[in-house]
Amino acid sequence: MREFALYSRKGRTDSRFTSLREAGRLDVVHECIVASLFLSHGIRRNVVFHILLSGPPMPPLHLKIDGATLRNVRTDQETWKVILKNVLSGKFHPGVSVDKISFEALLKAKADEASIYVLEEGGKDIFKVAIGENPFFVLGDHIGLPKKVEGYALRYGEKISLIKQPYLAASCINILNYLLDRKAAI
Ligand SMILES: C[S@@+](CC[C@H](N)C(=O)[O-])C[C@H]1O[C@@H](n2cnc3c(N)ncnc32)[C@H](O)[C@@H]1O
Repeated sequence: MREFALYSRKGRTDSRFTSLREAGRLDVVHECIVASLFLSHGIRRNVVFHILLSGPPMPPLHLKIDGATLRNVRTDQETWKVILKNVLSGKFHPGVSVDKISFEALLKAKADEASIYVLEEGGKDIFKVAIGENPFFVLGDHIGLPKKVEGYALRYGEKISLIKQPYLAASCINILNYLLDRKAAI
């Protein structure tokens, strides 16, 4: 299994919004959902995408999107605005769950079963790292990971870099999926 966790510093934790961008940059979350879970005309059934929402009014909130059970989705922003609003107001959508687990508790739970990597420009070159079975990649949003959160994640994992330039979080996910797909295909 392959997992991605996006720490969204400002992402709203209720359904009272009309645009993803104005909801604490949930548009960035949408971009990362598409990058992590979608193939052309298909869903990556081996991927789980976690979002840690830390915005108002009731942080933290953990959204889990499981490719294995995800149904009734398209890639466009409007579709995901409706899905996110629904699950944030307590409605059911197949493959999407919401709970109050903290990022720290999630990482601690994953540490036993996954290899944890924190994505950061200044980390160790990914081509010098042997990515383990069941990788769990931690990424910051448009602002970046808070230092405290990064420090906590690094108790369980290592910091890796794709390149020294800062890329969009969604671009990083695309690159990671590509590298892992290639590795699996060879
Ligand atoms: C748009 S970047 C944030 C840039 C922001 N200026 C900062 O201070 O981190 C979003 C996230 O993508 C990941 N990221 C961006 N570029 C990267 C790179 N070259 N290598 C590894 N991770 C990267 C990091 O996790 C980062 O927090």
